[in-house]
Amino acid sequence: MALVVIGFVLCLSGLPLILAADYPSYVAAVYEHRVLLNPNPKLPLNRSSALEHMKQNLRVFEEQTALAAQQGAQIIVFPEDGIHGFFFTRESIAGYLEAIPDPQKVTWSPCADPLRFPDTEVLHNLSCMALKNRLFLVANMPSRLSCNRTVDPHCPADGQYQFNTNVVFNDQGVIVARYHKQNLYFEASFDTPPECEYITFNTPFAGRFGTFICYDILFRDPAVTLVKEMGIRQIVFPTAWMNKLPLLASVEFQRAFSYGTGITLLAANTHSTNYRMTGSGIFTPWDSLTYHDAKGDSGKLLVRRVPVLDPSFIGDDNHKLVYPSSNESEKMHVWPTSSSKANGDGKYCRKDSECAEGTSSSIFNSIMMSDNFTLVSLQGTEGNISVCSGSVCCHLLFRRSDTPEFYALGVFNGLHRAYYLEICALVRCTSEKQSSCGGQTEYAETLVDFRLTGTFTTPHVYPGILGSGITVDIPDHSGWESENQLYMSRTGMSTGLVTAMLYGRNYEKDNVKKCA
Ligand SMILES: *[C@@H]1O[C@H](CO)[C@@H](O)[C@H](O)[C@H]1NC(C)=O
Ligand SMILES: *[C@@H]1O[C@H](CO)[C@@H](O)[C@H](O)[C@H]1NC(C)=O
Ligand SMILES: *[C@@H]1O[C@H](CO)[C@@H](O)[C@H](O)[C@H]1NC(C)=O
Ligand SMILES: *[C@@H]1O[C@H](CO)[C@@H](O)[C@H](O)[C@H]1NC(C)=O
Ligand SMILES: *[C@@H]1O[C@H](CO)[C@@H](O)[C@H](O)[C@H]1NC(C)=O
Ligand SMILES: *[C@@H]1O[C@H](CO)[C@@H](O)[C@H](O)[C@H]1NC(C)=O
Repeated sequence: MALVVIGFVLCLSGLPLILAADYPSYVAAVYEHRVLLNPNPKLPLNRSSALEHMKQNLRVFEEQTALAAQQGAQIIVFPEDGIHGFFFTRESIAGYLEAIPDPQKVTWSPCADPLRFPDTEVLHNLSCMALKNRLFLVANMPSRLSCNRTVDPHCPADGQYQFNTNVVFNDQGVIVARYHKQNLYFEASFDTPPECEYITFNTPFAGRFGTFICYDILFRDPAVTLVKEMGIRQIVFPTAWMNKLPLLASVEFQRAFSYGTGITLLAANTHSTNYRMTGSGIFTPWDSLTYHDAKGDSGKLLVRRVPVLDPSFIGDDNHKLVYPSSNESEKMHVWPTSSSKANGDGKYCRKDSECAEGTSSSIFNSIMMSDNFTLVSLQGTEGNISVCSGSVCCHLLFRRSDTPEFYALGVFNGLHRAYYLEICALVRCTSEKQSSCGGQTEYAETLVDFRLTGTFTTPHVYPGILGSGITVDIPDHSGWESENQLYMSRTGMSTGLVTAMLYGRNYEKDNVKKCA
């Protein structure tokens, strides 16, 4: 496959992880799939037509599973909506649904025993791929589950739930996990499960994995509960994520979540340029292999060996993982100790009017990601600036190359739709206008060394760094300086800086149904 595509990024990033020779590791694969869509998703199809449609996508899955297996993959992850597509109604998706028996109650390999449950062609096909290629396979598909209105008050009027579902097969083709998406994102065809599900599965090569889907990554349940309370350190993550800069490009947030929680994230996105969907990767807390191609029209298989992180699997081997030191003295000590030069020679502004008006601490508002951020502009080539919103205060120590690009440090402390954010973000503005700060741009020429600090009321903060051309990066250092103050620093990046963020989520203040 030709790798010469405009807008294409494939990179290894971050600090290289040093693995002791005998440290347990495994080979993971994710496939970004260009889903073949039903052109009329609102028109109901009968079962045989729905199957014809899904088989077009399954054929690609089958090829890619074989290619991954040839490269030694032991697990492969396919994206959300990758088999059926999107924009269905509750009625029009009917022909696509399969009933997936609960793997905690029924042990079933659809490939070995295809007639045990009716209308399960897709499960059969996926199960055979896993068995034939001897690997664990994670796919997302629409499923149904009958319910009884007399005993279940949540049961929909038509007597069945319809779920956006991840299904996991082991290397024998047996269904080992089934997860119903908790946090739906405008998905008229699906129901929210009546109870929150925390789904994990065990593998012989890497111990336990957890799973959730797309929008779930922004909420406490099940994502943060799995990772922070249940000790799951490996996640398989099918997604159909629409890129939104400057804070939520897919690989940007995947990178930030894996780094911020210290887990391995196997993220497979759907590829659909019309809907700005692209961006997949294999992320460990230290490094990553990512793919982002906003223009091209093909899928992409990523395969990579990664260390096992499940503590119960590695046991005493834990010490053999050589973590990048978080204790070496910071490169930051060579930095200016005062900001006296902040408005000196290297001022970014080229129009006198702006320089006159825009001396160091002028605060302004601009809309970023639909939220009203409070910002302060970066003046000169180095400086020390702050901006606050309520109890969330952001401080930035920076040194930048002398390029005519405008940057600002912004803060947001409030509800975004139903979820509560506490954000410090250094962004490249798309023009010299203050109102352009928060606009979407993928590119930047300016090299920025920085130390960004924020005071938060939440411990759940995801540090993210995005370089020019959607290249992901991680801090050199980060950590809590006090109970409520988190910092990250990064110097010497080789690409221009698009965004550096401390993306805090205060789940307590969310306006969503809480899980018991
Ligand atoms: C399903 O729909 C297609 C297209 O409308 C039609 O050709 C086919 O006969 C239908 N099949 C059945 C089993 O009803
Ligand atoms: C899965 O379905 C495709 C498309 O119909 C078919 O070509 C393939 O043989 C099936 N594979 C398995 C393993 O059942
Ligand atoms: C629903 O549950 C009630 C009470 O257990 C039972 O009497 C009824 O037959 C069930 N209905 C269906 C459709 O299974
Ligand atoms: C950092 O390293 C020094 C010397 O290697 C050691 O004495 C100190 O305890 C370490 N500090 C932390 C917080 O690990
Ligand atoms: C930056 O400003 C903060 C608060 O104004 C101050 O505490 C800190 O010492 C300054 N750092 C430098 C390197 O000037
Ligand atoms: C953003 O907030 C500021 C300060 O509260 C306010 O003056 C401004 O009108 C807001 N902007 C928008 C677009 O809501």
